[in-house]
Amino acid sequence: MADKRFHLAWFMNFTPDEWREPFGQGGLPWDGQFYVEMAKTLERACFDYIMIEDKLMVPQTYGGSSKASLNHGMMVPKHDPAPLAVAMGMATSRLGVVATMSTMAYPPFLMARLSSTIDSLTKGRFGWNIVTSAEDLAAQNFGMDKLPPRDQRYEMADEYMDVMGKLFASWDADAIVLDRDAGVYADDAKVHAVNHVGKYFKVRGPLNTVPSPQGRPLYVQAGASPKGRDFAAAHADSIISVASGVASMKAFREDIRARVEKAGRDPDQVKVLFCVTPTLGETDDEAREKYQRMLNSPHFIIDTLASLSAITEIDFAQFDLDKPLPEKLVTNGESGTLDKFQQWGSGKTLKELVVDGGGGLVSSVELVGTPDTVADRMGEVMEEVGGDGFLITTPVLRVSRRFIVEVADGLVPALQKRGLARTAYAHEKLRDNLLEF
Ligand SMILES: Cc1cc2nc3c(=O)[nH]c(=O)nc-3n(C[C@H](O)[C@H](O)[C@H](O)COP(=O)(O)O)c2cc1C
Repeated sequence: MADKRFHLAWFMNFTPDEWREPFGQGGLPWDGQFYVEMAKTLERACFDYIMIEDKLMVPQTYGGSSKASLNHGMMVPKHDPAPLAVAMGMATSRLGVVATMSTMAYPPFLMARLSSTIDSLTKGRFGWNIVTSAEDLAAQNFGMDKLPPRDQRYEMADEYMDVMGKLFASWDADAIVLDRDAGVYADDAKVHAVNHVGKYFKVRGPLNTVPSPQGRPLYVQAGASPKGRDFAAAHADSIISVASGVASMKAFREDIRARVEKAGRDPDQVKVLFCVTPTLGETDDEAREKYQRMLNSPHFIIDTLASLSAITEIDFAQFDLDKPLPEKLVTNGESGTLDKFQQWGSGKTLKELVVDGGGGLVSSVELVGTPDTVADRMGEVMEEVGGDGFLITTPVLRVSRRFIVEVADGLVPALQKRGLARTAYAHEKLRDNLLEF
């Protein structure tokens, strides 16, 4: 029988949990325990990985200040994903942990060293979400006035990946000898200098960590622009996307697979996961009611627009909610999300754009209903798209323990019953699990 299984991952960040709602967890997850518990729950549900989003600034675009972000706990406070990935990874044994780290912020040597260390600590379950940063506000925390333009960011990132590859290759796989009698820990003939001198980076090497269980971390990437897609196709093991509807999901995946092939890689080794924000209920009616309640909550519009402002650096507070956007907007930041949101030419008012996009900025397809209804729909969508899975999240990435359990103990068993999700891990390392089907 054909294997119908697809992959499941989760997209979250180290920000306050769903603190405002009746089933909130208090808003102070800073000792990491809430998210460690989340990781354990997702491991119980056999997720491939949990991915921690990250940004390196306090948003100040919406309304020209940080008021909305700080008052609502929206994208800030945001703690560092790398230590959380370690905590989650060491509390689990099969779940992959993926941290977002920016090529703008870390020199390649530190990135290679840190990710190699975490891959060893998690016994081969670490992934790196490669971002170049997309905000001038972030660039201004690193000695620049503005971000480089998108194409140059990707050009720099291409060289960065070249350096990373050389650093990971600077130790032969069998360089650790551990010969007690001869008194040799590592064979110096098997550890090589890198001596990279390029347009943007100059790195001597070798790396000073041992080869990690996966050799290098799993690479995750989310580029949506043509350059971004080429970059992802050249490097990523898993590509995450926010397409709009089944047809664009399918088109995106096919486009990526063609680019992967052009880059000389095997498309079956690159797993494309689509963001979705399911709303689950005991009955379909109850789920729809919950969904409507979310859309009509006073926070929903402002949270959506404030987070969109943060990632595009366009102030959406300046536009009339009851009118269409005055012009097609462009950004040097997250262009894919902006284009999906603005549906240019649709004539919809700004408020309609927010509400129609119901599942938020990160929903590729609407999923509302009982676990059975949603599992059926996910199966249909994957069949049409052709693969490879979903990245589950919430409209503004904020989670409650209740929602995590609804997915892990309601939706996932419904998927498993249909043969659509794994019921046990076949491997110990993240890349092996991702390539299992
Ligand atoms: C699902 C998804 C997740 C992303 N996560 C992050 C993130 O955690 N941090 C970040 O700086 N950018 C993140 N991005 C932005 C992308 O890495 C990229 O910078 C952005 O999409 C702009 O590149 P593009 O114009 O090629 O799409 C994310 C984008 C998507 C679609």
